[in-house]
Amino acid sequence: MYIDIAQPDRGWQDIYRLCITFVNPRPIGFISTISADGVRNLAPFSFFNMVNANPPVVIFCAGRTRDGGKKDSLVNVEDTREFVVAVVTAPMAEAMNQSSASYPPDVDEFSAAGFTPKPATIVQPALVAESPVNCECVLDRIVDYGDHPGASAVVFGRIVTIHVNDEYLADDGLLDPEKLQTIGRMGRGTYARTTDRFDLPRPEIK
Ligand SMILES: Cc1cc2nc3c(=O)[nH]c(=O)nc-3n(C[C@H](O)[C@H](O)[C@H](O)COP(=O)(O)O)c2cc1C
Repeated sequence: MYIDIAQPDRGWQDIYRLCITFVNPRPIGFISTISADGVRNLAPFSFFNMVNANPPVVIFCAGRTRDGGKKDSLVNVEDTREFVVAVVTAPMAEAMNQSSASYPPDVDEFSAAGFTPKPATIVQPALVAESPVNCECVLDRIVDYGDHPGASAVVFGRIVTIHVNDEYLADDGLLDPEKLQTIGRMGRGTYARTTDRFDLPRPEIK
């Protein structure tokens, strides 16, 4: 199969649906924000990653809604310039999925999906108590691809504080994947577990 992206009869949805079946498994950033009116918001984003080490920077990409509007997470970050990103683990999967329903902006999505908000130390948005790791972030910049269908705003946030539940740590002080059990997003409605892993040594030049 050969795909010419410029082919006029190919909708962006076809390309997107295909790409997310090979750009995977994608980590899921559980993005907690607060509106200018103080309503808590929570939504998963798998167009998410850590993209810089020093300073530590994460991104998530908020796509436009069907009617070309902005998702609540984006509106809130634009208004408050803060967010929290929590990791999503296997026990959190179903409630995380519930939080992705299109609730109106005045609904507290922590309550709607069954998560417990916990005060952060620096930023206003809440931590997700059920998540073993929460990062407090301040907005760095937004790269906006427009307001047409399929366009996203890429939100860059600088991590200012990291909260780790000590029970999930290994002896080396890092997260123990066996305990953490993060999940990843594949294409379609499929998810991946992180219970099947392997190690490789750093290579020498051959
Ligand atoms: C696992 C998962 C990953 C998702 N990733 C994204 C994403 O990367 N970008 C996006 O715009 N929507 C993504 N969504 C959909 C949003 O979570 C959904 O549109 C949500 O209602 C947005 O909430 P908000 O309007 O409160 O910001 C994802 C949904 C799920 C279940």
